[in-house]
Amino acid sequence: MKIAVLTSGGHAPGMNAAVRAVAQAAFSPGWEVMQVEAGFGGLLEGQMSPVDQSRLGGVMQQGGTLLGTERSDEFETSEGQERAVDRLEEASVEGLVIIGGGGSLAGALSLSELGVEVVGIPATIDNDVPHTEMALGVDTALNMAVEAIDRIKDTAYSHQRANVVKVLGRDCGYLALMSAIAGGAEAAVVPEFETRPEDLLEFIKLAYERGKSHFIVVVSEGAEPSAEELQEYVNNAEGTYEADLTGLDHIQSGGSPTAFDRILASRMGAAAVAALADGEAGTMVGLRGDRIERVPLGEVVGERRTLDPEVYKLAEMLAEMPE
Ligand code: F6P
Repeated sequence: MKIAVLTSGGHAPGMNAAVRAVAQAAFSPGWEVMQVEAGFGGLLEGQMSPVDQSRLGGVMQQGGTLLGTERSDEFETSEGQERAVDRLEEASVEGLVIIGGGGSLAGALSLSELGVEVVGIPATIDNDVPHTEMALGVDTALNMAVEAIDRIKDTAYSHQRANVVKVLGRDCGYLALMSAIAGGAEAAVVPEFETRPEDLLEFIKLAYERGKSHFIVVVSEGAEPSAEELQEYVNNAEGTYEADLTGLDHIQSGGSPTAFDRILASRMGAAAVAALADGEAGTMVGLRGDRIERVPLGEVVGERRTLDPEVYKLAEMLAEMPE
């Protein structure tokens, strides 16, 4: 069998490890493996070449994606998608593995509906893909955010300041909520649950009056009020901390994948090839409990992943100050 692999959408740590696993799993029974550069845009341009097995060494630990990734407007159209199918046929590719987030998996579904044998691997630091407990890159980005919060806390407590930490995640609050819990932050502001700025300010003032040395608020980039609005709100108030703002931006999405992401990428890469071998294309491989399972792409696309309200309550409970 001849297959191709591509990475698409925003890069996520673990993508290279997944490409390596796909290639190794396919080489094992003697298949041919092509790499597509620059995502769907590269596929449309026919940027495809055989994977050189001797160059897979060392890619496991590399962040970003060596294949490159780009968002393609042309691929969004049905003409573009048909052209992508033609490109795959011209290259005699019989199976395709797409590694990416929600938009990429929607692209995978479109190709599947046009008859391409395609399997998706969820990879996005946002963790907004349903039917998988974790997407590739989430654990690395989460650990990065927690390390940043730990460092910021040193400044905050030494100078009795507040810090509003803005974390990535698009319109999903997973990274913000989990990093707030793991970083022992005093509050988390996420798009999924309402935060009234006046309530938060009251909470911050109470902490200040009790002599608490610092106050860390983790704010998801998609939240309302935004991190910038919250900082301004706190700084305009009397009798409370001075608030700094730290945006983690791309520092959060870069870096060498954690062991968890490397192992998940390796398992998902191999599982994607196994799905193609078993004729179970049109699926995404997702993590459920300790198993990698196949989920129809049609069930993944269009569905929204929610944040567990119990975990949100836990964050609130942990932040309550003892009397
Ligand atoms: O979807 C992944 C992500 O890193 C988001 O968390 C963030 O909003 C966005 O991509 C950043 O995109 P860009 O690198 O294009 O600014």
